[in-house]
Amino acid sequence: MIDVSLAPPSAVPASDALLVAVRSTTSGPVVVASGLDDRAVESLGGLARTLGMKGDRDEVRRGPGDAVGYGVVAFTGVGEGDPSVERLRQAAGAATRSLEGVESLDVSLPADVPELVGAVAEGLALGAYRFERYRSATPAVARARILTPLAGEASADAALERAGILATAVATARDLVNTSPADLHPESFAERAADLCREAGVAVAVRDEVELAAEGFGGLVAVGKGSARPPRLVRLEHAPAQARRHVALVGKGITFDSGGLSLKPAKGMEEMKSDMAGAAAVLATVLAAARLGLAVRVTGWLALAENMPSGSATRPSDVITIRGGTTVEVLNTDAEGRLVLADALVAASEEEPDVVCDIATLTGAQVVALGTRVAAVMGEEETRSDVVAAADAAGEQFWPMPLPADLKDSMKTPMADIANIGDRNGGMLVAGLFLQRFVEGRRWAHLDIAGPALNTGSAWGYTPVGGTGVGVRTLVNLLEEACE
Ligand code: BES
Ligand code: ZN
Ligand code: ZN
Repeated sequence: MIDVSLAPPSAVPASDALLVAVRSTTSGPVVVASGLDDRAVESLGGLARTLGMKGDRDEVRRGPGDAVGYGVVAFTGVGEGDPSVERLRQAAGAATRSLEGVESLDVSLPADVPELVGAVAEGLALGAYRFERYRSATPAVARARILTPLAGEASADAALERAGILATAVATARDLVNTSPADLHPESFAERAADLCREAGVAVAVRDEVELAAEGFGGLVAVGKGSARPPRLVRLEHAPAQARRHVALVGKGITFDSGGLSLKPAKGMEEMKSDMAGAAAVLATVLAAARLGLAVRVTGWLALAENMPSGSATRPSDVITIRGGTTVEVLNTDAEGRLVLADALVAASEEEPDVVCDIATLTGAQVVALGTRVAAVMGEEETRSDVVAAADAAGEQFWPMPLPADLKDSMKTPMADIANIGDRNGGMLVAGLFLQRFVEGRRWAHLDIAGPALNTGSAWGYTPVGGTGVGVRTLVNLLEEACE
């Protein structure tokens, strides 16, 4: 993890490189740097032009830094117009992501209010992420000093600390998603969760397959029974004495989704190692809540199973019973996420939390609707709006989607209370309506992150290839809002 600190703008050069931002304008690139005099800015502008720098997003270039007393000066583009907080976060991340061979960085991006200090620090740390479990990667920037007039002020230190906790949490979620499903199965996921929770002071309880069956968790049992790796339900709890409200977070944790007997096609099946990204986000969020000392009670539920075809697998047409008694006819074993979530939503609701929020790589229809960078949020209106607001503040894109009641008819079956599939059109909404049945009357939101959870394209901004950790910063913001 990169070490980020603060220093006054007058600090003597003590790093390999100086990082400045560049805006794109109709009259060419314009350098935006806090704490540099006009002459230095002008000379850097000339250098940026010589280097062919346009100031586009995700454009990072470097040149000789003599004019400003550094070995190297690095430019990061923020695009057109006045850069937003999120644009600066992305520009900072693009820099640490792509500045190979630079070990230490002095960062002269606009950071004259605590919010900007936090955003720049967060971007730097998110961009410096590397996953090295199975091979070494190009070394990331190891140290960064943000040059800011707020250096030494408590508000800036607090923003820096929060940024570090958030970036660590996002890295935890990314690591879990990137881990091979040969190494991350329900049991090892639960063990890892327990280890991390012990360090952070979060209480953990794990139910194994025997307990799940005995306690009526028919969804987890049905999805997990085709696999040699049995399912788990993990309950996490951060319960500070001052807490007045209780938020329950529920995550889909399918450590590999082959589709089961309704087997997925070979093409793209490898992406289904990311089908536990919701559970990873919940774990990372609860850890962050504890490390931040948030004054809200949080319970986290990780619904962990591996969806595999075998002689013991659930068959299309099997009728199962979710915790609480609702019967479901499984017509497609690839619509498994909603089955494990139903169990976990019921268990979470039994504790009467003030708000329930689930997060899941739930449907291919989500990807069709919104692509790979925008997630969806459904649910009861007020909570849905709260999630959108929390996401906006985090710089994550969550778009509100409806739950049209008429689509419920498509899940009717003569065999059980409900079928696990319905109309193919609006498949994301059908899945949301299925979940709604298990949280009736509660304040609830459902986050479908199927597209943004795994980046199979190129890296951009602070987002690497592979697991993205999407949802963590949104959920932490949501919890912070619940602290009043
Ligand atoms: N895990 C998948 C959804 C998914 C698709 C996540 C693409 C990430 C990227 C989910 O379990 C699934 O297979 N859903 C089916 C449901 C269908 C059978 C009703 C789908 O979306 O095709
Ligand atoms: Zn599936
Ligand atoms: Zn799935």
